[in-house]
Amino acid sequence: MLFEIQTYGKDVLRTKTEEIPQIDDDLRVFVANMFETMYAAEGIGLAAPQVDKSIRLFVIDLSPIDEEEGRRVFVNPQIIGFGDEKDEYEEGCLSVPTIREIVTRPTTIRITYQDMNGKHYDEEIDGFLARVIQHEYDHLEKTLFIDHLSSLKKSLLKNTLKKIASGEIEVEASENFEL
Ligand code: NI
Repeated sequence: MLFEIQTYGKDVLRTKTEEIPQIDDDLRVFVANMFETMYAAEGIGLAAPQVDKSIRLFVIDLSPIDEEEGRRVFVNPQIIGFGDEKDEYEEGCLSVPTIREIVTRPTTIRITYQDMNGKHYDEEIDGFLARVIQHEYDHLEKTLFIDHLSSLKKSLLKNTLKKIASGEIEVEASENFEL
């Protein structure tokens, strides 16, 4: 089942997310539908608030970019540390269609999370995966990538953001690997 992707202006993208108390069949179905929705939109990452659910979960599949990668599910993630080094990358987001902007982020993170079997992890992650995780994690923290831009940059995007909020610009699959 495809979910409707929630776009800029929707309250759910600015709503506090809840910890997931247990991993059950309902959650498994939800996650399967999230992957289906992400693939249909040709995204490589998708967070639960983007499909109107205020829970701490996101999915990532970087295999279109790196064939050694595959499906990853992060349940109850917590970023507990950042490396000192930072880099820049032009990000896009399924919830902010047509806008792509350079965002500066740390290249290394330390994160704790659970997988769909409830197993706990504590990992240091770097490179592109670390960037995608930070973008998706931001969604759980009511933050969008455009919030990281300077106020000048943001003011230049004002009209486009207005069109997204009014539904004039809609989500469409692109080949840009949106997050
Ligand atoms: Ni996003």
